[in-house]
Amino acid sequence: MIRGPPAAPVGPHRRTHTDRRANTARTPPDNPAATAALLVADELESVETRLGEVLSSREPRMTEIADHLISAGGKRVRPMVTLLGFRACGGSVAIDAVDVAVALELIHSASLLHDDIIDENDTRRGRASARSKYGIAHTLVAGDFLFSRAFQICGRFDAEQINWAAEACIALTEGEIMQSRFRNNPEVTLDDYLEIVYRKTASLFEQGARISAALARPQDPSWVDAIANCARHVGLTFQIVDDVLDMTADESDLGKPVGLDIREGNPSLPIVLAIAEDRELADLFAAESLSDGEVGAVLARIRRSGVIEDCQRLAIEHARAAQQALAPLPDTAYRDSLCALIEQLITRVA
Ligand code: FPP
Ligand code: MG
Repeated sequence: MIRGPPAAPVGPHRRTHTDRRANTARTPPDNPAATAALLVADELESVETRLGEVLSSREPRMTEIADHLISAGGKRVRPMVTLLGFRACGGSVAIDAVDVAVALELIHSASLLHDDIIDENDTRRGRASARSKYGIAHTLVAGDFLFSRAFQICGRFDAEQINWAAEACIALTEGEIMQSRFRNNPEVTLDDYLEIVYRKTASLFEQGARISAALARPQDPSWVDAIANCARHVGLTFQIVDDVLDMTADESDLGKPVGLDIREGNPSLPIVLAIAEDRELADLFAAESLSDGEVGAVLARIRRSGVIEDCQRLAIEHARAAQQALAPLPDTAYRDSLCALIEQLITRVA
């Protein structure tokens, strides 16, 4: 439920999308994937407009740093899941879902600014990272700014919904610290990995979708948990795919160097699975720093080991679980499109 108008940080943006589309609208069966973005095209546009507005600050440098990251794009998967999930639950006041999507993207962006400081990354989304362009201090504060803007938007939601958002942020921080506990630590297990990934990635998907589904006031309240469960599996799929791409993609597609997880001692899924089978790899993972040659050798060894296929299988399992979680929802174009979006995620590594 909404409690009055939002504490709008800047400017009017309220272009409410009342329902031009019936929630029972059908997608052409032959091409559901292509229609996913189209179905929520207006809302996605509003997300971009709103993001532009909330980046405004009395300090131009703050805006510049935040814009540097956010205007570089990103896949906007979180907004898509939030917007489609909202519609799939029968939501009609689209601005509610738009606000959730914007808040999610702001929290995600804040965490990336901070993550690039922690990981000392020089590149992000195919350009210089904010850390390398603007320095640690200003990047850190710009992350705080985005995080504050996010909660300014969330401020109009119910206490329970704000708490869900806060829980996701707490999980993000705990995921980051847990990950550092297992950095260069060959004792890391698959369960540890899944817990890290749930916290650092899936929790934000899950809670964002939970909030937008609740805002949709679905006819059956159990749909809120169904969407949240779906989004949690989407988050797990997304991160596993990301881990695989770190080892298999081209640098130009990735927007950052290949093999960063090996270089950083990051317990990504291919690494966790490979070191469990290969003592020498485990020793290399335990080394604090590796030469370029050693990174290349580890990369080649992991690619040859067969674990990439295991990772792909696990990604597909989570994608299927995400799609299955949507079974209780009514058969609508939005639900189909969410399924198609999930399918697209795994084609990135298929
Ligand atoms: C990217 O992961 C990082 C995250 C998903 C979360 C980082 C979280 C924090 C820094 C805690 C701060 C939290 C808030 C709420 C501001 P990655 O390093 O595996 O991916 P990458 O290769 O894209 O960097
Ligand atoms: Mg990182």
